[in-house]
Amino acid sequence: MRIAISTGGGDAPGLNAVIRAVVLSAVHRGWECVGIRRGFGSLLGEGELLPLGPHEVRGITHLGGTILGTSNRGNPLKWRMQRPDGSWEERDRTQELLDSFRANRLDALVAIGGEGTLGIVLALWKKGLPVVGVPKTIDNDVGGTVATFGFDTAVATATDAIDKMHSTAESHERVMVVEVMGRHAGFIALNSGIAGSADVILIPEIPFDINKVCDKIRRREAEGRHFSIVVVAEGAAPKGGTVSLVDPSHERLGGIGDKVAHSIEQMTGKETRALVLGHLQRGGSPTTFDRLLALRFGAAAVRLIAERQFGMMVALQPPRIVTLPLEEALAMPRRVPLDSDTIATARDLGVSFGD
Ligand code: F6P
Repeated sequence: MRIAISTGGGDAPGLNAVIRAVVLSAVHRGWECVGIRRGFGSLLGEGELLPLGPHEVRGITHLGGTILGTSNRGNPLKWRMQRPDGSWEERDRTQELLDSFRANRLDALVAIGGEGTLGIVLALWKKGLPVVGVPKTIDNDVGGTVATFGFDTAVATATDAIDKMHSTAESHERVMVVEVMGRHAGFIALNSGIAGSADVILIPEIPFDINKVCDKIRRREAEGRHFSIVVVAEGAAPKGGTVSLVDPSHERLGGIGDKVAHSIEQMTGKETRALVLGHLQRGGSPTTFDRLLALRFGAAAVRLIAERQFGMMVALQPPRIVTLPLEEALAMPRRVPLDSDTIATARDLGVSFGD
């Protein structure tokens, strides 16, 4: 067997741990491994395949990022190419990719990615590519799995930042608004907000009313608490409003933190500052939880290939790593369940969701 590994979409702490687990599990079976650089790049004429053996994956479990590189702009079904006149066109390069896969004598692909990448590999599997998926994203929004690796690390980073906001907010008697990532899911905001003792948490699953947010800040003021911490998910939106985008052409979310901060200052008269945590949340060494999950996912993906079960994804359904069809996992993206005990806990602790 000669298997390929690709990492696609935004990077997440734990990608290198998956790569190491896949390579060692494959080598253990007497198989050969290669890495595809930059998503699907090496199969589409962008650089060579990277031979991967025990030497190449030594000492990478704790490293953030991906030794293979990644891209969230490299969809082979809709490859963006610039025409000589500067305009752009989208081309379907799947046949080229399938031909290149065969020409390189590859028998299976382990594709590590989030919703977007897994959607692409599902389409490729339907066209005959023998692929297994490994779910990755700091957003934790892939269906069928209780957790994706990268999420725990991102939450730890965000919690640490919120902790640090407290002393400066209290010293200056300000409102601090922290915008965190997560796309259309509020898991990072919810978990880091509760763990970091935020006063207000705004998530995409609960459209907010800015009046309610300000009420909470005024109540704290009346109680002698002259500072407040507001955690806003990048995908949060006001009731009846729309999400904030920094780049509409790529649907890049961002900007809601500034808007919320501005409204709070206008409406309460409290000095307010906004901070966007941004890509910090994707960096750093994976937590123990993420490393272990990533290693378990990688080894399970190789077991799937050994059983020749393609078109499947590995997933965490505690206490087990299970497998399910990619189609099933992707049918319903994961969102914060409003009846979850985490939401109830936040409400019991007095957190406002602006509703
Ligand atoms: O999906 C991971 C993620 O970090 C999201 O939370 C965020 O919206 C997006 O990627 C940012 O993408 P980019 O790397 O293109 O800025």
